[in-house]
Amino acid sequence: MFVESCSAGAGAVALAWSSAAWAVDARPRAYGRALLVDELGDPIKAGALKPQTNYLFHYPFEATPVFLLDVGKPAPPATLRTRDGKPYQWPGGVGPGRRLVAFSAICAHKLVYPTRELSFISFRKGAVVNPKTPSAGQDLIHCCADHSQYDPARGAQVLGGPAEQPLCAVLLEHDARADTLTATGTLGGELFDQFFQKYALKLELEVGPKARQVVAQRSTVRELDRFCRNPVRC
Ligand code: FES
Repeated sequence: MFVESCSAGAGAVALAWSSAAWAVDARPRAYGRALLVDELGDPIKAGALKPQTNYLFHYPFEATPVFLLDVGKPAPPATLRTRDGKPYQWPGGVGPGRRLVAFSAICAHKLVYPTRELSFISFRKGAVVNPKTPSAGQDLIHCCADHSQYDPARGAQVLGGPAEQPLCAVLLEHDARADTLTATGTLGGELFDQFFQKYALKLELEVGPKARQVVAQRSTVRELDRFCRNPVRC
């Protein structure tokens, strides 16, 4: 089964998908401030990001991936709800044209996430071309595991598939003068506890003892195609 192949390696710990396991907190959570930098360590310029392109960094923990996207249009604030009904106000995009957004790349269905070897979840420009999974719209984050679809221009609200809550938002600050970006916290349905429980052994091998360490001061942004050897498109 797909999810098994995705999450199995290295003896992933089974997670009990009880409602208690999904109890989430929709309030903003401040973590350490992390300046977003390129692979040379220089601050990335918001205006230099390519529109509708998958960028990845890690936040708030060393092992938790985040999509950074210029969605190519203004992303207005949106009122959203977690799986257990907690409302929250996503503040919308930042930076030039309010087009820049960031969301946890951990699928809210069964926690599939991009690794260096494989990624089943990514932003897809245009409609998803798959007759078995008609797209719920254009320009979506699509998870090929079970075909959940999220709208990154609307706070990653769920548009299709089995996911029951939006992707957790990562809050960004844009310094208009320097054109730099800083991650400051999260908002919405965090699933990090479940993620670290499910993938404990796998993350130990992939990331090592720093996996659950809070990202300090800066985080490196890469295009998904540079981070992951096999970004799957379904
Ligand atoms: S893990 Fe099931 S849709 Fe993403």
